[in-house]
Amino acid sequence: MSMKNILAPSILSADFKALGEEIKQTEEAGAQYIHFDVMDGMFVPSISFGMPVLSSIRGVTGQTMDVHLMVQEPVRYVKEFAACGADIITVHLEACGDVKATLDEIHRCGAGAGISIKPGTPVESLAPYLDDGDMFLIMSVEPGFGGQAFIPESLERIRRLRAMLDARGMDKDIEVDGGIYHSNVAEVLKAGANVIVSGSGVYKGDILQNTAGFMEILRAYE
Ligand code: DX5
Ligand code: ZN
Repeated sequence: MSMKNILAPSILSADFKALGEEIKQTEEAGAQYIHFDVMDGMFVPSISFGMPVLSSIRGVTGQTMDVHLMVQEPVRYVKEFAACGADIITVHLEACGDVKATLDEIHRCGAGAGISIKPGTPVESLAPYLDDGDMFLIMSVEPGFGGQAFIPESLERIRRLRAMLDARGMDKDIEVDGGIYHSNVAEVLKAGANVIVSGSGVYKGDILQNTAGFMEILRAYE
């Protein structure tokens, strides 16, 4: 495969009292995106952070702001997140009353549109949106918390989605999120993903080394 592989470190696992510094280390070591996990306490049980945090980290680095909304009816917040600096806004298929209208709103605001599915949602339910989505996010854990174990069935789901895109001649991004470390990222890439989210795998321990280790593997599979 000739697609570019991208690392999207999830700041959910960062040390928030040193957030700017920690993000800069991931950029220095080659990570192209910042993955920003927004939780509303409704779509998922937990609450994380939102617009003011996004505004204050924009400009800290030149990385792409990859915003993952684990929020019920996310269409309500698209405009605000775009105004705060989101470059890509990913919404959950399960959380949208009208998926197409939500994607249209994201595009109207000038951002890239991602659609995410939870581990229990069939990959085939993305089929109607393959044209409108710019990126497809397969959750490899139940959304809501960092540090969970990768669900092995996710690999087959990535393969199926990549096959669906290939069959239509579409060369779009597949992002995978949850439980990814140096030890299993190669399998995720081989299955057909090209945007890799990692929270614990980047931010727990030596951030520079963790990021550089991921980038080496990502480049080896381009
Ligand atoms: C989970 C979030 C993930 C999470 C990944 O709901 O969407 O982005 O931070 O964390 P790790 O890599 O620790 O599983
Ligand atoms: Zn995420």
